[in-house]
Amino acid sequence: MEVGIITVSDRASSGEYEDHGGPALKLEAEQRGWIVIADAVVPDDRDRIRDAILSFEAQGCSLILTTGGTGITERDVTPEAVRDIMRVEIDGFGELMRMRSVDITPNAILSRGLAAVVGHSLVITLPGKPKGAVECLEFVEGAIPHTVKLCIGEPSTC
Ligand code: MTE
Repeated sequence: MEVGIITVSDRASSGEYEDHGGPALKLEAEQRGWIVIADAVVPDDRDRIRDAILSFEAQGCSLILTTGGTGITERDVTPEAVRDIMRVEIDGFGELMRMRSVDITPNAILSRGLAAVVGHSLVITLPGKPKGAVECLEFVEGAIPHTVKLCIGEPSTC
C-alpha cells in the first residue's frame, strides 16, 4: 500500500519546532509494510491542506494520513479542508477513534478527526500529538485494507 503523510502545523511548518508526528506515522506505516511515497509539512491553512491531499492522491497514495489540526482552536481546519474535497465521509473511523481514545484521555473528545474518500484515496485525519496519532491509527487499522481496496476499485470481500 502506498501512503502519503501530511503534518498539519503552523509551528512545524515555520521551523519553530521539529515535526515529530510525521516521522512517528512514517515508522508505523513502515512497520506494517506500507510504502511511504510522499510526505509534507503544511501550515494550518485550509487551501494548503487541501492542495497537499489532492497532490498526494494524484501521485497514487491510496492511503493519506494527516496529523494535526483536528481540534477546536481557530486554526484547526483539517476536517474542513477534507470535507471541501471528499466524496463521502466514513463516520465510523472518527467515532471509533474518539470512543477508544477517551479511555486514554478525556481530552480525546476534542478531536474532530475523520476519514473520507477523496478521489481514489482513503484520507484519515489523526490528532497532532504523535502519541495520539499513533493510538488512533492503531484503533482503526483493522478496517484500512478493505477500505483502501474499495477506494481504488479493487474487488474485496468483507
Ligand atoms: N487522542 C488520543 N488517542 N490521544 C491523545 O493524546 N489528544 C487529544 C485529542 N485526541 C489525544 C487524542 C487532544 S489533547 C486534542 S486537543 C485533540 O486530539 C485535537 O488535537 P489536534 O488539534 O492536535 O489535532
